[in-house]
Amino acid sequence: MTTDGTHVQPPDAANAPTEGAAVPAHVLVVDDQPIVREFLAEVLRVQGHRVSLAERGEAALDLIRKDPPHVVLTDLKMNGMDGHDLVRRIRASHPAVVPVVITGFGTVQHAVDVMRDGAFDVLTKPCPAAEIVSTVAKALEHQRALQTNADLRERLRVQEKLAMIGKLAAGVAHELNNPLDATLRCVRMVASRTGGDAESKELLDLAHAGLLRMADIVKSLLTFSRHAAIQQKPEPLARLVEEAVAGVAMAVADLAPKITSELAPDVAEHPVPRALHQVLTNVVRNAADATGPTGHVQVRARRDGDRVRIEVRDDGPGMPPGVLQRIFEPFFTTKPPGKGTGLGLPISARVVENLGGAITVECPPSGGTLVRVTLPFAPSGAPASAR
Ligand SMILES: Nc1ncnc2c1ncn2[C@@H]1O[C@H](COP(=O)(O)OP(=O)(O)OP(=O)(O)O)[C@@H](O)[C@H]1O
Ligand SMILES: [Mg+2]
Repeated sequence: MTTDGTHVQPPDAANAPTEGAAVPAHVLVVDDQPIVREFLAEVLRVQGHRVSLAERGEAALDLIRKDPPHVVLTDLKMNGMDGHDLVRRIRASHPAVVPVVITGFGTVQHAVDVMRDGAFDVLTKPCPAAEIVSTVAKALEHQRALQTNADLRERLRVQEKLAMIGKLAAGVAHELNNPLDATLRCVRMVASRTGGDAESKELLDLAHAGLLRMADIVKSLLTFSRHAAIQQKPEPLARLVEEAVAGVAMAVADLAPKITSELAPDVAEHPVPRALHQVLTNVVRNAADATGPTGHVQVRARRDGDRVRIEVRDDGPGMPPGVLQRIFEPFFTTKPPGKGTGLGLPISARVVENLGGAITVECPPSGGTLVRVTLPFAPSGAPASAR
């Protein structure tokens, strides 16, 4: 999760400021003296940083929860929670946020204690602007290293989970596939023999629909365990979008929002692997589920250099950060039982990655959700590259 609410799959250097020397970042200044707060804020703003201000430790923690900064520059002696306590609390709850202490009452022992508890550095007031700038720059470098580590750990955790599910899925799907297929065939045969018996036909239709749903889940699990998606033949993007939109509209029926699509002429007929249909269906379905019948969902596609960029935007409620950062986890769902398996986005991510592309999901501050799929603009007729 970045501070602007973006989640990228695979998890990226999400809370990290952009690379470079004078990297603009989000710095929280905590000091109970307005004049000091304003001085520090001014010095940091001149460097291009976004600065938040808090007068006390409690307010700072609240801000950190809502909009995590990269670095916290805090006074030591404050009413209520002091700076030392704030540093400890930050380290415990937000290990990727780097605290720096700035104090007018520094003894060496105090500095050692607060650094042992997690402060990156201790500055003494009055502190020249140049020293503040260079310490914050070093703290940001440290923050990037911490974030990269956290991202690698998170990536590993998701990869392990994916691998485990892949193995499990292969076994379960393999075992279920044959009996399911046979049961479906039997139901179809019986249905063709019931003649005009309306009640039996209705019951068999229900059984048939249930079996198809099971077959769908088995197919999803198989996509996880194999890379079947890549072998599918390419079709015009416009056709896949149209099918996905129509399929979702039919599936959600009365609850369907207004779904529109707008494809640039140079990508509408562009052949893309059929596997993308599954991705589009899930993303549009998620958007439709989120907005409900009064909402709007917009599918757009255009060429962006050597890539095709497909965007699905909705004006639904978006997601809180805690949900947004978990959406690519297999089996993570906020939908009621029977409505969602939580496999849609992890499978979509896997399919898109196998096609050499990427999928990102963000909840912009203006509201709603924006899902962006980028794929290589492969030469006409050729499937996008597979890895
Ligand atoms: N456009 C969206 N708006 C709000 N929340 C969303 C949106 N897209 C995804 N989500 C959240 O992400 C979760 C995971 O989505 P995902 O597609 O992986 O699974 P699902 O839709 O719950 O189940 P499945 O796709 O397997 O039927 C959803 O349960 C929902 O909480
Ligand atoms: Mg879904």
